[in-house]
Amino acid sequence: KKIVLAYSGGLDTSIIIPWLQERYNGAEIIGVCTNVGQDEDWDAMEQKALASGASKLHVLDVRQEFAEDFLWPMLRAGAIYEGKYLLGTSIARPLQAAKQVEIALEEGADAVAHGCTGKGNDQVRFELTYKALAPHLEIIAPWRTWNITSREQAIEYAQQHNIPIGNISKKNIYSRDWNIWHMSHEGGELENTWESPRDEMFILSKSPKEAPDQETELVLDFEKGFPTGINGEKMEPLKMLDYLNRIGGENGIGRADIVETRLVGMKSRGVYETPAGTILHKALRELEMITMDFETLGMKNQLALKYAEQVYAGKWFTHFRESMDAYMETSMQYATGSVRVVLYKGSVTVVGRKSPYSLYLEDLASFGESAYDHSDATGFINLYGLATGVQAMVHERKLPN
Ligand code: ARG
Ligand code: SIN
Repeated sequence: KKIVLAYSGGLDTSIIIPWLQERYNGAEIIGVCTNVGQDEDWDAMEQKALASGASKLHVLDVRQEFAEDFLWPMLRAGAIYEGKYLLGTSIARPLQAAKQVEIALEEGADAVAHGCTGKGNDQVRFELTYKALAPHLEIIAPWRTWNITSREQAIEYAQQHNIPIGNISKKNIYSRDWNIWHMSHEGGELENTWESPRDEMFILSKSPKEAPDQETELVLDFEKGFPTGINGEKMEPLKMLDYLNRIGGENGIGRADIVETRLVGMKSRGVYETPAGTILHKALRELEMITMDFETLGMKNQLALKYAEQVYAGKWFTHFRESMDAYMETSMQYATGSVRVVLYKGSVTVVGRKSPYSLYLEDLASFGESAYDHSDATGFINLYGLATGVQAMVHERKLPN
């Protein structure tokens, strides 16, 4: 039997290798690790996988595809889950699982496996992707069947099987996930919703308290809802994310402390750092305000909620998500222009916006002389208020007191 495992180099996926070999009588285990921008010792990774018993490790740098084909559409859609979560982990899983499937097909594997727990969202995201792209593959989720239930037991299992666990220690209390869009922190003191996160926990961003006392001003350029440049200079997605994460993090931007509703129904608490994403979402929203009419924007905002739910649920490879992207593409075709933002001690403030497609006509809105004929409003309000007038004749309505 050949099994392709989503391998991260961490404790959980490391012990899965010997476990699968035992459970499936010497099965061949091939690891796939996707680089979505997490900080890893990539050179040591292969050695580690082989030392854990894998026959091979495929390391794939998917950062560019992640930015262009996943993050950019999600940003354009304005997808934010439950009003707060910018979906950094959720959006990476379909791509990671798709790459794993690609390798599984190349290798002629029988099964795919992952190291997600039975309590979380990630298991659903991985498996919905497997089902969408290669429904014939068997799915193995060791966390749902084995009897290792704690970190201590996992460490013990690793030691018994001579699995190198390197610097994994019992001290590392947080469960973290990191990519070019965000870093998530769960566990530790965060499990008590009343406890504040510790300053030392944050990695991508400075505390607003320690951020510079001067404002930082930036001009962000967009084309059709996609970010294309900064301060008038064209910039590739990866470079832009890196730049905005650094300058945003420096200014304490993008921290979110969230109690979210998981797919399995439970509430869970997480803290996220998403500096670039926070800046981009805010700026793009302002560009929409000047380039989109009321109905097109209203519909877009409704779909944004659906889009976020779909991404959160791992329903990326679906007709529904593709259909929503079709709407996003047409509705955002005029979202081209520039937005001026000021970063200061944790906040992003939009102070200017312009677009060649701006629907804002200064002449029309200003109070001076204009093409607007005030007397037109009389007839407009007569018809607009017709139903109100009829009701006033028929119903009895008291004055408010
Ligand atoms: N709760 C977030 C989500 O569902 C973050 C999950 C982080 N995953 C992890 N394996 N640490 O998207
Ligand atoms: C896990 O349980 O595997 C990580 C957390 C999550 O998926 O929500």
